[in-house]
Amino acid sequence: MIGIDDLALATGAYRIDLAAVAERLGTDPAKYYKGLGQTEMSVIAEDEDIVTLGAAAALPVLERAGRDQIRTVLFATETGIDQSKAAGVYAHRLLGLSPNVRVVELKQACYSGTAALQFAAALVARNPAEKVLVIASDVARYELGSSAEPTQGAGAAAFTVSADPALLALEPAAGLFTADVMDFWRPNHRVTAIVDGQSSITAYLEAIGGAFTDYRAQGGADFAAIDRFCYHQPFTKMASKAHRYLAQRAGSTLDAAALAAQVDPTMAYNRRIGNSYTASVYLALLALLDGEADLTGERVAIASYGSGAVAEFLTGTVVEGYREGLRTATNEQILADRPQISDDTYLARQRTMPRTDPSDYTNRHETRAPFRFAGVREDQRIYEPTS
Ligand code: COA
Repeated sequence: MIGIDDLALATGAYRIDLAAVAERLGTDPAKYYKGLGQTEMSVIAEDEDIVTLGAAAALPVLERAGRDQIRTVLFATETGIDQSKAAGVYAHRLLGLSPNVRVVELKQACYSGTAALQFAAALVARNPAEKVLVIASDVARYELGSSAEPTQGAGAAAFTVSADPALLALEPAAGLFTADVMDFWRPNHRVTAIVDGQSSITAYLEAIGGAFTDYRAQGGADFAAIDRFCYHQPFTKMASKAHRYLAQRAGSTLDAAALAAQVDPTMAYNRRIGNSYTASVYLALLALLDGEADLTGERVAIASYGSGAVAEFLTGTVVEGYREGLRTATNEQILADRPQISDDTYLARQRTMPRTDPSDYTNRHETRAPFRFAGVREDQRIYEPTS
């Protein structure tokens, strides 16, 4: 029985209410609140990035389980901060991991956290004494003023994969789907993604549908035998759309309320964090585990999508006693503690970050997270513990 042993989150220091963005863009806030299912977006501090978010998410996982069994760190991100060096190597040092660890970065838009999960499971199958640390961390940026702007966000999920998982035991079947489509991409010269929003929704649905069909062909459970569905959530309404699409494709007879009960509890964190790309589907899983009274024995699907496009559909069962491993109150505190910033403050940040000029700079000390991105000297990023 291999699966997810522990799972924690981190997010940006600040939040902006999407009503403020709607006012500037002359849009009805209901379009964002109801139409997209998003209320807020996390905004990072000047001294935060994917490394500090990812390491912050991983720290409580390592503090609980220890570092001795970790021999691999897989860092999944769409928003890499270097063309060569893996962000996970910085995180490895900040987290105090042993030198006898392999560290690598994985990329395929929002999908690669799930590739990391499967690679981790394979490593653990080879040596059940090891645990693999997976960090999925992203800062989602689109053009200001575009229809994608309200679907930005920032967040990280960190989880360990072990042979004796405390949260979710993975089932063997996995459904896969890849198609070369240009729905969302980010050329090397850009800090914001190029996206064809409506075609990305179509590509997402087709890919998830294709992955589910393959999951069934690989011996996966019938749709009716799956209790809950965690979808990648670029905005939470996408999960509702995907679930209705899959239900119809699978010939489900469940009514709208029953279908909603299978996905709505997965949205609580992403609705407030915004899109966290690779982390999103794992924040959906965490919201589900934190939000429901008792899911013991329930079969949960992870439906992962990364534009470009790769999708994977897999399932696991919730392990008895899982609630003892949750940090529900801490997670709520992390979200509640983010000060709200005005649209002007947010705009000023978005226009100046991330810095891409080659000069040295020092970042103001803003973050309350355990690690910070202090600045750049001679093209080297400087990371340090906050205290
Ligand atoms: N009150 C309530 N709902 C409203 C509304 C209002 N006043 N005005 C519009 N809506 C609804 C629309 O009906 C639509 O819902 P539906 O899709 O269920 O019909 C929803 O709000 C979004 O409106 P739409 O006009 O489709 O939005 P848009 O084209 O301006 O932008 C995205 C939406 C998702 C395309 C855009 O935010 C984007 O490109 N995001 C980034 C890419 C992304 O997330 N892709 C997802 C797959 S990876």
